Amino acid sequence: MLDAPKHLAQPGHAVDTSAPIRAMRAEGGRIGVDLADGRSRKLSTRWLRLACECEVCGDTASGKRWLTPADVAKAIHAESFDLSVPGGITVIWQDGHVSHYDPAVLAAQIDGSGPAPFQPQLWDNDLSQRLGSFAFDDVVADDAALFSSLRALRDHGIAMLTGVPAETEATARIAGRYGPIRDTSYGKVFDLISRPDARVAGETARAQIPHTDEPFRYSPPGFIFFHAIRTGAGSGGTSLMVDGFHVAALMRARTPDLFDLLTRHGVTFHREHHGEVFFSAEAHVFSLDAAGAITGIRYNDRCLAPQRAPLDQIDSLIEALAELTRLICDPQNQFQHQLAPGEALVFDNQRVLHGRTAFDPTLAVRHLRSCNIDRDGVHSAFRSLARRFAPEEAEQVLYQGAIF
Ligand SMILES: [Fe+2]
Repeated sequence: MLDAPKHLAQPGHAVDTSAPIRAMRAEGGRIGVDLADGRSRKLSTRWLRLACECEVCGDTASGKRWLTPADVAKAIHAESFDLSVPGGITVIWQDGHVSHYDPAVLAAQIDGSGPAPFQPQLWDNDLSQRLGSFAFDDVVADDAALFSSLRALRDHGIAMLTGVPAETEATARIAGRYGPIRDTSYGKVFDLISRPDARVAGETARAQIPHTDEPFRYSPPGFIFFHAIRTGAGSGGTSLMVDGFHVAALMRARTPDLFDLLTRHGVTFHREHHGEVFFSAEAHVFSLDAAGAITGIRYNDRCLAPQRAPLDQIDSLIEALAELTRLICDPQNQFQHQLAPGEALVFDNQRVLHGRTAFDPTLAVRHLRSCNIDRDGVHSAFRSLARRFAPEEAEQVLYQGAIF
């Protein structure tokens, strides 16, 4: 095996003492790397070639990318390495192609120190002390204030907006700051007003167990706005919010078998208005990432179809759903809040469950205005603003929701 010559900083060139990588050389099918701290590590040659983002290879961030994995042969070989220019590493390949790399990017790959998954901050009935609250005037006019509220959404899955004017345009204006508003069966911005001929449960005066909305969709709403226009303070209708990640953690600790069932047994949710719509989705109640961390929840007791499972599994599945329902209904796990006109709750519908106590429809008309924002729109807004206000947070791996 012919190895390319080892290139250290050459005499006559300034030595970049802050460089994380001191030397690189071909070693068999891989690349040996000497790090500044004295460690020696290996790097995949194929990975390095694919990481080239020169004008010929194109870049993946913009999607104008021309080099494909199939273009890089298993036996790819680097002829030489030049580390003499501070802040850059040049590699010349066997076919003469020249690649330039950022040493910090290579060092991060070697350490496996890519962006760490973000750790959500769980809450129960103690949320009131931690709930982020943001004024309409600030969020619509000031990107820094918007970013602060996006951080609160990332951390807790919920934030409060205050001083939101009652006009529909105001709801749309502030919601639109968080991402494109999703068009739904009810329109983009829609009103939920209690009425005797209610079409959906949200228009009745009955209590609602905390739930996520529309789990019968393959991709449920990402973030939901509840803008209070008129509320019957003193006559019930208190909002009940539950951190689904918190109840999942409780279930995982207390009844691991039941928790496990809800991460791998399909549960069917449906919604049918005859002749108009018929939604049905079979999915896991708890979605996990590849490392087993929870990324999303979908659960609405009112949308549960008769479940399908073999006789020896059906009772366990029902008990798992019953245990989850008990945890959701436990006031210990609920943040309770009586919305006032001008307040808007915005929350992650694939993490936070929302419900309310019953109210007396003869004493109060309850009018909430609502709209949905897709989850990746909100996370895109967060990352874009993080590039400006907190660059170290921009590439955090955010929890991706109820993915299947
Ligand atoms: Fe709902």
